[in-house]
Amino acid sequence: MLVSTVGLDSVSTIKRLGVLTGGGDAPGLNAVIRAVVKSASNQGCECVGLEDSFDGLIHPDRARLLTPGDVTGILRRGGTILGTSNQGDPFAYSAGSTGGAEDYSSRCIDRFHELNLDALVAIGGDGTLAIACEFFKRGIPLVGVPKTIDNDIVGTNSTFGFDTAVAFATEAIDRLHSTAEAHQRLMVVEVMGRNAGWIALYAGVAGGADIILIPEIPYELECVAAAVAAREQLGARSSIVVVAEGAAPVGGETSVVEPAREGRLARLGGLGARVGGELEELTGKEARSVRLGHLQRGGGPTSFDRVLATRFGGKAVEMVLAGEFGRMVANRPPDIISVPLSEVVGRTKQVPPDLDLVRTARALGISFGN
Ligand code: F6P
Repeated sequence: MLVSTVGLDSVSTIKRLGVLTGGGDAPGLNAVIRAVVKSASNQGCECVGLEDSFDGLIHPDRARLLTPGDVTGILRRGGTILGTSNQGDPFAYSAGSTGGAEDYSSRCIDRFHELNLDALVAIGGDGTLAIACEFFKRGIPLVGVPKTIDNDIVGTNSTFGFDTAVAFATEAIDRLHSTAEAHQRLMVVEVMGRNAGWIALYAGVAGGADIILIPEIPYELECVAAAVAAREQLGARSSIVVVAEGAAPVGGETSVVEPAREGRLARLGGLGARVGGELEELTGKEARSVRLGHLQRGGGPTSFDRVLATRFGGKAVEMVLAGEFGRMVANRPPDIISVPLSEVVGRTKQVPPDLDLVRTARALGISFGN
């Protein structure tokens, strides 16, 4: 197991801590940074902020001291004061001019030592945590903090950013009910989540959707149309369809805006418009589609995400000071625990098709298109 425990005797040796944010931004990143900097400083440990993910260890001018004063007032702010990137893997870094990817990992390790860092807190999603795990294997003492609106990281019940994204998507669905009812239309709402349907499921249930399409349950359009028809029979002349961007029909492909390329995953999107058009033809009802896109990642975090992010930051510092490296903080209610990074990376936490919430939704008459 990839766990190294320096031990409590060496607590005093951790005097300078690096912190970075990687991957797509998520509401609550600043709350984690604030918690890390304040709790570390209060325990005699200085913090250095690394800018734009691991770029902060590649380029010499991208690291700065973070004092408690620097993080005052950022709890409620979206984005990240350190900047982030979902490109720039240091193990396959595309510097631009040469066109090819180079391994910059040794440069990062050298820079880590030049900055006199004793440990690193890497806040990010699956990609960032996988990179962090590789650096841990190469001797960098670090702790991971899971972040993503998609809620798809294994080992933790939830990630900060998810609650905020669900709250926003729910409000959007609430608003779409008005036009759906007034015009007797089908309103199709496409939400993010990559290959996991958590946002669609939670926002769909919270917003009173009639049909929810998620990647974990391939749909058949005829079943979706039948669900719309069944509602008409009951006198409901409008329907709300929530579509996860990563959903796909049985035997079909996901909708891609931009295919995967070196160092970047495919960008998903467009399924909502496709489903809207297809349903219009099949049902004869007028349909409109809305893609919520990055609005789901913007703005300040909900109170739940502020608290979760703060707990994650505090726990990460506790682990650093205790020498518990190679691990990720995780939410296992009622506790915040830690799990080995090696057990987390390279895996995706998807919605189990027999999850109680899926069963309950079905019992309420919500269709999953199958
Ligand atoms: O992982 C978070 C996420 O917002 C996904 O839900 C979405 O597919 C992706 O990032 C979008 O990435 P980008 O900001 O690069 O378009």
